[in-house]
Amino acid sequence: MAHMKIRKAVFPAAGMGTRFLPATKATPKEMLCLVDKPLIQYGVEEAVAAGCTEIIIVTGRGKTTMEDHFDKSSELEASLAAKNKTALLEIARSVSKLAKIVYVRQPEALGLGHAVLMAKEIVGNEPFAVLLPDDIVDASTPCMKQMVEAFNETQASNGEMSSILGSEVVEGDAISAYGCLDCTPDTSNPRLLAVKTMVEKPAPGTQPSQNAIIGRYILTPRIFEMIEGITPGAGGELQLTDAIKALLQHEKVYGYSYEGKRHDAGDKQGFLRATVELALKHDKLGPDFRAWLKTFPL
Ligand code: UTP
Repeated sequence: MAHMKIRKAVFPAAGMGTRFLPATKATPKEMLCLVDKPLIQYGVEEAVAAGCTEIIIVTGRGKTTMEDHFDKSSELEASLAAKNKTALLEIARSVSKLAKIVYVRQPEALGLGHAVLMAKEIVGNEPFAVLLPDDIVDASTPCMKQMVEAFNETQASNGEMSSILGSEVVEGDAISAYGCLDCTPDTSNPRLLAVKTMVEKPAPGTQPSQNAIIGRYILTPRIFEMIEGITPGAGGELQLTDAIKALLQHEKVYGYSYEGKRHDAGDKQGFLRATVELALKHDKLGPDFRAWLKTFPL
């Protein structure tokens, strides 16, 4: 079989963002600004850095600001050009030039699995990336790039493609908030885990490992058939983890312990921490912010 490349990245962004109310009542969670750009832009930049050339954003009602954000803004560009504000003009332009972005609607927030299924026709019969925009991964090599490399390696050595799930070690009972991998280390690469099965949000003390699934996936196209075959799980939602479990009956699935630090920017505490850490690392804002923070009476 010819080797398949990861060209497309799906961003489920049709959820209601209830953990972030009231901020998300009229503003999509994915458009909340982390330091100086909206959450979804971090993910799109990561996918582009991983070689993806087509971005598919799954949206719903009230999400049009996302489309405007990635679109060309002729009035803004004309105004900045007229005022000779070339650096700002470049920033505004670069966002709309990031990638080819297409949008597909999820009419009702029926779960992450259902959101991914909305991209079936656009993805077609090829493997693809999924990035959850509220997981921000700060890494020297972008997380999805690391995973694409692992996908290419396993495909070359096994002669067939396999799904790869971004994973990290979550200590203690905190693992109960995640999908958890029942897995063994893979001998071919110290970061790869061979997945036996998975447990969604295991009760404390019952977890098969401390390896959590995070919001980064590379999936083979068979996942669509699996999503269509599952029934709604917790909360009446079609769960992506249930579909991946079904996929395991047909194909190998790997976990990948990425290098980097993840921030859960989908909840208020995680978002605050991510704001401070990323602001401190920001090349322009960081030095002044650090100096100010040091004077702050804690
Ligand atoms: P989350 O569970 O983090 O997002 O889903 P949510 O449902 O918007 O947030 P809360 O729990 O109510 O606070 C992870 C990603 O999957 C998308 C969300 O938009 C988010 O980016 N999602 C979730 C969908 O696109 N559709 C769904 O039906 C569910």
